[in-house]
Amino acid sequence: MKKTLLLTPGPTPVPEDVLEALSRPMIHHRHAPFKAILAEVSKDLKYLFQTENDVLIFSASGTGAMEGAVSNLLCRGDKAIVVEGGKFGERWREICEAYGVEVISVPAVWGKAVDPARVKEALERTPEAKAVFLQASETSTAVRHPVREVAELVAARPNTVIVVDAITGLGVFDIPTDAWKLDVVVTGSQKALMLPPGLAFASVSEKAWKMIAASDLPKFYFDFAKERKNQAKHQTAYTSSVSLIVGLQAALKRIKEEGLPALFARTEKLARATREGVKALGLELLAPEAPSPACTAVKVPDGVDGEKIPSLIRDKYGVAVAGGQAELKGKIFRLSHMGYVSGYDVISGLVALESTLRDLGYAVKPGASVAAALAVLSEA
Ligand SMILES: Cc1ncc(COP(=O)(O)O)c(C=O)c1O
Repeated sequence: MKKTLLLTPGPTPVPEDVLEALSRPMIHHRHAPFKAILAEVSKDLKYLFQTENDVLIFSASGTGAMEGAVSNLLCRGDKAIVVEGGKFGERWREICEAYGVEVISVPAVWGKAVDPARVKEALERTPEAKAVFLQASETSTAVRHPVREVAELVAARPNTVIVVDAITGLGVFDIPTDAWKLDVVVTGSQKALMLPPGLAFASVSEKAWKMIAASDLPKFYFDFAKERKNQAKHQTAYTSSVSLIVGLQAALKRIKEEGLPALFARTEKLARATREGVKALGLELLAPEAPSPACTAVKVPDGVDGEKIPSLIRDKYGVAVAGGQAELKGKIFRLSHMGYVSGYDVISGLVALESTLRDLGYAVKPGASVAAALAVLSEA
């Protein structure tokens, strides 16, 4: 028998009640029963995003909402500041460049959070920059960026918006959209929302809507204004991903029942348990100073073939983890703890990791990671 525990930073495990909702018989996306679901989901998304702004829903992976943010907000030749501290920061730059937007890059060392002072300097050097793009959680390095501090810099500027990729941030840790004055916040379904991939979301502030009204970049499917008009009537502009939205209703119900403060506290505890567990094996974190509560990036120890870790742990021990991307390929592996993950899942992942590392010639004291993780998990 083969059973796999999914500890990848997206897709993440889908709870049983959400799976049941996903498998219900098809209904029509323009009929009243579906409109009622969309109305409920729209309200609950505002709870998740902590906003009174519209939260738009698209049938796409998260990158669709990222692309939509660029193509709806900006004009050809505009300047935008992009925080680049990993693969997804690079994606903001690539999307901007694809649309003819001039990028002012604020680099961060991979594994470190951006220093808000660097963003401040970029804003002072380029006061005409129309937007600042960054990640709340840079999944490729497992770093959490200081969104609140960057948002404060942007809020003071009437003609600049902040756009946050919260694809592995929302529902993971506190990102109060309205309280922090975040203009566009995007996320995707396959992370803390505990759904299969396929839905992308974007919340849009009044300041952002004003900028959208002046945007001249080409757009069609990801047309925020068109989508807003339709969603006011509890419709999506084009055929809705009916099953995913029915699943979303169930997932948001779970999130509301747990409550955001409890959800954030649980995820943080799982993250800490994972970090303490791997450290007890003598392993080093890639991002010890600003670790994301979504996933933990662990450096591959000397003498171990890092590229073998994800396949061996999956095929032999039934735990799916992620390797490193781009320049971190073979150098790190990543364990997720967002969404439908329990303390016992973290423990199982660590046990499998111990066995995998031992197979690859790294000496571990059996159970050391489990003891360290349990010490965190049993804290009141
Ligand atoms: C922080 C971040 N941004 C963007 C993306 C891209 O999202 P998608 O693969 O859903 O398009 C991901 C996916 O892992 C992510 O973690």
